[in-house]
Amino acid sequence: MKSLHTLVLITLLASSPLHIFSQTSTCGRVVINADLGKDTISRHIYGHFSEHLGRCIYGGFYVGENNTAIPNVHGVRSDVVDALKALKIPNLRWPGGCFADTYHWKDGIGPKAERPSIVNTWWGGVTEDNSFGTHDFLDMCELLGAEPYLSANVGSGTVQEMAEWIQYVNHGGKSPMADLRRKNGRDKPWNVKYWGVGNEAWGCGGHMTPEYYANIYRQYATFMADWTNTGGVFRVASGAGGSNYNWTEVLMRDIPQRMLDALALHHYSVIDWNAKGSATEFSEDQYFTIMRKALDMEELIRKHTTIMDKYDPKKRVALFVDEWGGWYDVEPGTNPGFLYQQNTMRDAMIAATTLNIFNNHCDRVKMANLAQTVNVLQAVILTDAEKMLLTPTYHVMRMYNVHQDALLLPVDLQTCDYRHGESALPALSASASKDNNGVVHLSLANIDSKESRTVSVELRGMTVRSAEGEILRSGKMQDHNTFEQPEQVKPAPFRQIQRRDNTLEVTLPPFSVVVLTVKG
Ligand code: AHR
Repeated sequence: MKSLHTLVLITLLASSPLHIFSQTSTCGRVVINADLGKDTISRHIYGHFSEHLGRCIYGGFYVGENNTAIPNVHGVRSDVVDALKALKIPNLRWPGGCFADTYHWKDGIGPKAERPSIVNTWWGGVTEDNSFGTHDFLDMCELLGAEPYLSANVGSGTVQEMAEWIQYVNHGGKSPMADLRRKNGRDKPWNVKYWGVGNEAWGCGGHMTPEYYANIYRQYATFMADWTNTGGVFRVASGAGGSNYNWTEVLMRDIPQRMLDALALHHYSVIDWNAKGSATEFSEDQYFTIMRKALDMEELIRKHTTIMDKYDPKKRVALFVDEWGGWYDVEPGTNPGFLYQQNTMRDAMIAATTLNIFNNHCDRVKMANLAQTVNVLQAVILTDAEKMLLTPTYHVMRMYNVHQDALLLPVDLQTCDYRHGESALPALSASASKDNNGVVHLSLANIDSKESRTVSVELRGMTVRSAEGEILRSGKMQDHNTFEQPEQVKPAPFRQIQRRDNTLEVTLPPFSVVVLTVKG
């Protein structure tokens, strides 16, 4: 992991001669106001999602307590824990997804040998032995230093089942569920703050209308007692899928705000649900389409936010994007129900642009969860028995973690186009923040498949003394890491920085991501 963190400081001359600036046409201009900014980028925007789906939990996070071949702590893989800690994983959503609305938490507590099995009807029809349950997940979150985010079963569960789960994990005194927890070996409550009330209620969570779900939500929220004495449970309603703006309108209209803390939007970048295409073998056309779908996130957030602003101008109710990422065909030869896909530079570009969008909307977007952490969809980690690799998406999330809990700085971005046939997308994407030490970070992506882009970055409100950078790039968009070549794609120091006073000039290769660290 050491090399990931290696940054080479570019020592900058106090005043560089003008001729060092390239005469090539400048694609874009970024102006950062380092002395402005009012909103904090919640670290929870960099959150993750783990479902009982394919090899995410079993084989991904959890290999069993008796596994002697793979180093683990109570069955949780140590290599995965170390990699996620290096990512500064802030939160983890569990147990689904669609699975959450079939999950009965009491099946997953008590002696493992006595736990009942169920069939995972959503994902591959496999038998789930419930060996990974509430204790396993919440203890794992403690190991990771991540806040747990539990999704309660609304689709096939009951209000009482959810209320008892909250009492089981959060009640510190004497109560039926706290006593049961103690009997199962845990004295102290975990004090779980984030609770989802169902998942995709418009789809796999019950195919409900928004009016029906709003009523159900009110009923469930009524019984979500705060046992934590730490500021209350944070209740998250199942929000819209993509551009279903009516869903947001009805929920904001019909749920009293005192009962609602967040709406959870889902958006996947997919070419066509009936023809998703390969994760690794794709054309420029498919790349362009995926980038267009990823950039749709900007419009989705703007439009859902506009509706939320109408009912909640003070922005008390948060927008969570608790499922996002690229979705392709599964890897050849793998179970179609397991959603196992490779992860290329295309995915790095989805991650870089999407995270910039979230950062720039951090006044409303308070949490996001990439789907999903290990071995499923746009995973940051892939495993194969005892082997593990970090994907290009992992590297972007690690490079961007400097933005966690930093002050968002206003960025004025002028960009040229990435043209494909008759269509065009903005070539550049950017966001900037200032951390507690006054260090400014700028994340930039050039999604153009062919052209390098020279960008001029002007920093106002500070005197630039040094700048260093890190870059993720590769020769082909399809490049990815394999178990044979796990480091084909990895970040490197970025040296193409020229400075004149407070202006930096940087050249971004095609489909590359750069994070600059600027000190005053
Ligand atoms: O992430 C895979 C699935 O996608 C989730 O279970 C569901 O919520 C969404 O449709």
